[in-house]
Amino acid sequence: MVSSSAHFLFFTVLIVFFFQPCFQHSLCRRDERLALLQFKESFVVDKHASFDDPFAYPKANFWKSQGKDCCFWEGIQCDQDIGHVISLDLSSSYLFGSINFNSSLFHLIHLQHLNLAFNDFNYSKIPSAFSNLTSLTYLNLSNSFFVGQIPFELSRLTSLSTLELVPNYEGGLELKMPNLRILVENLTSLEYLHLSGTKINSRIPTTLANMSSLRSIDLSDCGLFGEFPMAIFQLPKLQVLIVSFNVGLMGNLPEFQFHNQLTTLEIQNTKFSGKLPASIGMLSSLEVLSIDNCNFSGLLPPSLGNLTKLQGLQCYNNKLSGIVEIDPFLKLKHLEALSFSRNNILLLIKTRESANTTTRKLRSLELGSCSLKEFPSFLHNLDQLEILDLSSNDIGGKIPKWIWTFSKSLSFLDLSHNSLTNFEKFLNAFPSSTLDYLDLSFNKLKASLPIPPFSISFFLVSENKFSGGIPPEFCNLTSLQFLDLSHNNLNGMIPPCIGNFSKSLAILNLQGNNFKGPIPPTWVDGNNLKLIKLGQNNLKGKLPRSLANCRMLEFFDVGNNHIRDTFPYWLGTLLRLKILILHFNRFYGAINGSESDSLFPNLRIVDLSHNGFVGLLPTKYFERWSAMVDADRENTKYWEAYDNYEWNNIMLLPSYHYSMTITNKGVKMEYAQVLEIFSAIDLSCNKFEGEIPDVVGILKGLELLNLSNNILVGPIPPTLGNLKNLEALDLSQNKLTGSIPTQLTLLNFLAVFNISHNHLVGPIPKGQQFDTFDNSSFDGNLGLCGLPLSRKCENSKALPPPFSTSNGNEDYGLLTEFGWKTVALGYGCGFLVGVVMGNIVFARTREWLMRIYQTRLSRG
Ligand SMILES: *[C@@H]1O[C@H](CO)[C@@H](O)[C@H](O)[C@H]1NC(C)=O
Ligand SMILES: *[C@@H]1O[C@H](CO)[C@@H](O)[C@H](O)[C@H]1NC(C)=O
Ligand SMILES: *[C@@H]1O[C@H](CO)[C@@H](O)[C@H](O)[C@H]1NC(C)=O
Ligand SMILES: *[C@@H]1O[C@H](CO)[C@@H](O)[C@H](O)[C@H]1NC(C)=O
Ligand SMILES: *[C@@H]1O[C@H](CO)[C@@H](O)[C@H](O)[C@H]1NC(C)=O
Ligand SMILES: *[C@@H]1O[C@H](CO)[C@@H](O)[C@H](O)[C@H]1NC(C)=O
Ligand SMILES: *[C@@H]1O[C@H](CO)[C@@H](O)[C@H](O)[C@H]1NC(C)=O
Ligand SMILES: *[C@@H]1O[C@H](CO)[C@@H](O)[C@H](O)[C@H]1NC(C)=O
Ligand SMILES: *[C@@H]1O[C@H](CO)[C@@H](O)[C@H](O)[C@H]1NC(C)=O
Ligand SMILES: *[C@@H]1O[C@H](CO)[C@@H](O)[C@H](O)[C@H]1NC(C)=O
Ligand SMILES: *[C@@H]1O[C@H](CO)[C@@H](O)[C@H](O)[C@H]1NC(C)=O
Repeated sequence: MVSSSAHFLFFTVLIVFFFQPCFQHSLCRRDERLALLQFKESFVVDKHASFDDPFAYPKANFWKSQGKDCCFWEGIQCDQDIGHVISLDLSSSYLFGSINFNSSLFHLIHLQHLNLAFNDFNYSKIPSAFSNLTSLTYLNLSNSFFVGQIPFELSRLTSLSTLELVPNYEGGLELKMPNLRILVENLTSLEYLHLSGTKINSRIPTTLANMSSLRSIDLSDCGLFGEFPMAIFQLPKLQVLIVSFNVGLMGNLPEFQFHNQLTTLEIQNTKFSGKLPASIGMLSSLEVLSIDNCNFSGLLPPSLGNLTKLQGLQCYNNKLSGIVEIDPFLKLKHLEALSFSRNNILLLIKTRESANTTTRKLRSLELGSCSLKEFPSFLHNLDQLEILDLSSNDIGGKIPKWIWTFSKSLSFLDLSHNSLTNFEKFLNAFPSSTLDYLDLSFNKLKASLPIPPFSISFFLVSENKFSGGIPPEFCNLTSLQFLDLSHNNLNGMIPPCIGNFSKSLAILNLQGNNFKGPIPPTWVDGNNLKLIKLGQNNLKGKLPRSLANCRMLEFFDVGNNHIRDTFPYWLGTLLRLKILILHFNRFYGAINGSESDSLFPNLRIVDLSHNGFVGLLPTKYFERWSAMVDADRENTKYWEAYDNYEWNNIMLLPSYHYSMTITNKGVKMEYAQVLEIFSAIDLSCNKFEGEIPDVVGILKGLELLNLSNNILVGPIPPTLGNLKNLEALDLSQNKLTGSIPTQLTLLNFLAVFNISHNHLVGPIPKGQQFDTFDNSSFDGNLGLCGLPLSRKCENSKALPPPFSTSNGNEDYGLLTEFGWKTVALGYGCGFLVGVVMGNIVFARTREWLMRIYQTRLSRG
């Protein structure tokens, strides 16, 4: 941009110098000049308005110094003969403010080209007055913080050949009324239709296939569904087709013809299925083919090897099969990204060692789940590689030394889920210095922890047999963001630097090792920690109060240690804390709070079981745990920690799924992923006394409530019938009295119910879930009667009628959705100790990485 403006200046000088005699007065019309100045004045100049574009600068700021003739101002072009302003390009110009319907912009009715992309129009709507600019052929309002419905009036701009309206965030703009079909109905000259990220939420109109001028369609991330109209593939000029990330969109690939001009075909993360036609080899112009995360099956056609212009071939996660000889692909001279991961592909690696390596540009290679038995030797030739994924293969033995050095620029290496046993030659430190991301988890690595390169941001080695301590050099890894050492045989003390060595550390998982001693107290103010898991170790002492400095913390787990402390009410100030797990420790005393207002406002899961807490149940906390009141079962998002990560000047959002285990009266529930709306209270196996307060009944989001194995007395509060989401209710092994409130029959999702070993009396309610519980739910209450117990009630007429509810047949449907599985049944405290799977799902990370990578590729 700088160079083009310099060029423009030069042009200006030339014109003035040579042609001055021809123009006595300026070309620019006064009213248009005023309109331009007025338009400019309606904005604040703010650098943040164009933060997305590193090359942005305030173009309009130079106008006044560029003379009176607006035709020579930066970003403006005029009609040569008449002098009307016909082009205005103020993209990336730091403009901040809104555009009103009466903006002077709409007086520039001769405009043909208008680009206002990458500014900040302050979340305003796109004014309908754009329809006044009837000469427009080019309209680009991308990434400019316009929001809401795209106005119907744009459908009148019938000369448009380019329409680009990409919102800053998914769904920021909407296209419902008018919908896509109506909007483009009369835009018959359209060549570029780019609406990626706009909330369209409809089928793709078949009329698109009649718009024969179309060259480029980008409708990714638009909520499109239904069958993709095959006729669109026949559009004679089509070069770019991107409909990726529309998870409801179905379709097949057609037989392609020889004259096809497609350069980019991106349909990843849709429901496209069927075979890849052999005629795909006809797409001689194809540069990018992305079918990741679709449902393609059948053999991978060898004709792919004929696509000599291909830069990216992404087949990650389909059902493709066959034997692929890697050699033909390596001959594709422009290939930069190749992904076969997660298919049924058996790679038959044939390479000629004599092959010329200088032509190999491959930068990303994904061969996860490709039945590889060893490290492919052709990697030696790929010295430009940045991303290498060999995860989920059958590679055993030692990790060869050369893997760290064969590429000068390796930044992402995933060797997880193999059978690797050790490092070739003991490795103190990795020779490679470019590595950002290293995943060695789920192997059989038996060694002491290697010291990652200084640059590392992601170091994941869970589920191995690493032993020894954490070397002091880790304190120097100041760029670390995710550190997962969980489920190894590591021991020694946790290094004191753990709380302050890296400002960017977001994930710290040391779960399932043999770490001993106290938890270091160095948690500094302003740290970025979102997850701290220290469970299943031998940690002693108190919880350091400086943990309250972890203001970003969402997940804290110190379960299964020997912590001896009172209840950490002081963590209540952590506004983001959602999961607090203290189970199987030596916490003691009553749960009292401070007088502070802040009592865990966002907590949704609290597990204090198997400790020595005494006193009354914490009524004050039940009243304040307002996040647990939310019972929105529609929300199907899983909890994961996101973090920003800059990779080659690109912002990525790697994520880390939350996983945990909750033990509920012998039923161990493993949550590999946790739904955001999941909510649980487990206070079992303590010494709580007194009555169960009625107020528990306000926590309507609760799915699991376990108060078993305490010394609770009094009745079961009927308010528990309000907890409509409850799936597991365990009040067993207490001293509860009275009868079972019939309100409990309202709990349609209840699958686990246990009130055994109390002093309850009277009839067992009938109907709904109660017909599914067996004896064991009620055992040890000498006064209970009625089915399923053999003891009949003396006067069955006294039985109150069950509460009427809607048809309860949906009951179990949701259980599986909540992702927990019943592992075993048993009784008594401590029957099963939870084993948390350090379950990381990186698919999403990978998608982002690849998606952005492709964007780079396709932009050349
Ligand atoms: C942006 O919008 C906000 C909220 O509507 C308003 O308060 C603010 O003044 C606007 N800023 C500008 C520069 O228009
Ligand atoms: C748009 O055009 C209409 C009719 O031509 C006119 O009345 C209106 O003033 C114009 N709007 C603006 C903002 O110039
Ligand atoms: C446009 O309209 C708004 C409100 O309707 C008004 O505040 C503003 O002064 C008008 N601007 C011009 C240039 O007429
Ligand atoms: C829209 O403008 C942005 C910023 O100038 C540019 O990157 C993008 O390529 C433009 N879109 C089209 C279709 O020209
Ligand atoms: C498209 O043009 C036809 C004929 O001029 C007109 O009847 C129709 O209303 C127009 N559609 C839209 C969406 O403007
Ligand atoms: C597309 O054009 C053909 C021929 O002009 C016409 O028969 C057909 O109805 C059009 N289809 C749609 C969906 O407009
Ligand atoms: C994938 O395709 C198979 C047939 O090949 C079909 O049975 C299956 O339902 C599809 N899966 C999805 C998720 O669409
Ligand atoms: C590749 O192209 C050549 C020449 O066009 C053709 O002879 C050959 O059959 C093609 N190979 C495949 C596998 O389609
Ligand atoms: C590889 O190819 C390049 C250009 O294509 C050539 O300059 C170089 O000499 C070749 N190297 C070998 C080892 O053949
Ligand atoms: C950490 O880095 C500093 C400076 O680079 C170095 O002096 C020190 O020895 C390193 N510490 C460890 C434990 O490696
Ligand atoms: C971390 O905290 C310890 C103890 O307070 C201190 O000695 C050390 O300098 C701190 N390190 C950093 C990087 O701030």
